[in-house]
Amino acid sequence: MKRILLPGVIACALAATCAYGQEASNSAPSVPLIGLKDAYAGKFLIGTAGDVPRGYSAVELANIKDNYNIITPENCMKPQSLHPSEDQYTWGTADAMVKWCQENNIKVWAHNLCWHTQTGRWMLQGTNGQPITRDLAIEHLKSHILAVAGHFKGQVLGWDVVNEAIDDRANNEPANLRNDAWYRAIGPDFLTMAFKWAHEADPDAQLYYNDYNIEQGAVANSGKHAASMALLKQMIKDGAPINGVGIQGHWHLDTKIEDVEKAISDYESLGLKISISELDVTATGENSGAFNVRGGGGAPITEEALKKQADIYRQLFEIFNRHAKSISRVTLWGLSDTRSWRRGQAALLFDGQLKPKPAFQAVIDVGLGKTAAK
Ligand code: GLA
Repeated sequence: MKRILLPGVIACALAATCAYGQEASNSAPSVPLIGLKDAYAGKFLIGTAGDVPRGYSAVELANIKDNYNIITPENCMKPQSLHPSEDQYTWGTADAMVKWCQENNIKVWAHNLCWHTQTGRWMLQGTNGQPITRDLAIEHLKSHILAVAGHFKGQVLGWDVVNEAIDDRANNEPANLRNDAWYRAIGPDFLTMAFKWAHEADPDAQLYYNDYNIEQGAVANSGKHAASMALLKQMIKDGAPINGVGIQGHWHLDTKIEDVEKAISDYESLGLKISISELDVTATGENSGAFNVRGGGGAPITEEALKKQADIYRQLFEIFNRHAKSISRVTLWGLSDTRSWRRGQAALLFDGQLKPKPAFQAVIDVGLGKTAAK
């Protein structure tokens, strides 16, 4: 597939933000540009992550407006950012983000209300350095959620209410909850409580449980996926007002695609919506996390790796298309290979100069119902 480049500065900015989605024949002019969100219009929302607009260039913001119709704040709505000490709320960055999104007709997906990390120390400490009691932990979590979800009431589409509560290593409980500070202080009920308070504060918000690797083991009905099913069933039974589950999607070239589709089907069977909430597919290794971030690149990314990456993205979006009825949103976790927590792993659809990568074209092609570009 040929990409046509117009000369001049305008062309550079356009090439950086949009796909020239169609083939150019000798006679036919190139068809209109198309962004990611338009290729999936009517199916599901397409998002990116970032604490916009501060620190973003005009070209980056233009890229966002062209390609995405929902944004998740990467950091500015996390508990530590919004509520660093008991009597202090810092709304500035998050309010500016919500305002920019409203001005640009972009929805906000809020992230997150309860997590074991990036949370103010005060929240999980008792008075005078004593271990926190259950009652005090409940009071802290409740007041945090009511204040924060209340502040953004009506301005966000929904919340990741609890983030990453399932442990990576198996313990003996079906839901395999992480032995984190919330669990130790309150017990397993903290999840359902958090959902109830979020619903009380913003009854119209969609409320999701969000975690990584929860597709793993889906085909074999084991591992973190089986734990997530046990957890979600229990929460539903306990009356948690939960609408959906976010599969983070920090994937790599050898991710088991079959697990992704089976996990989606399993969550559908519980009557839940599904979002792919933090999608990135590293082109550099099998790791699901971030590495060599400071190295700023590590080994050069080969053409072959980029092609394989495009193929993984293609297969993933084919799955998402098949399940479009239950998928509410697919959010890329970052804007480009440099605006990414996995920078150095070339995990996104645009390179560091915001030029669309083969993966971008593959995603557009699936959205438009075309076969993969060779
Ligand atoms: C997790 C969190 C995100 C973010 C990433 C790293 O996936 O849910 O908020 O911190 O780790 O960027």
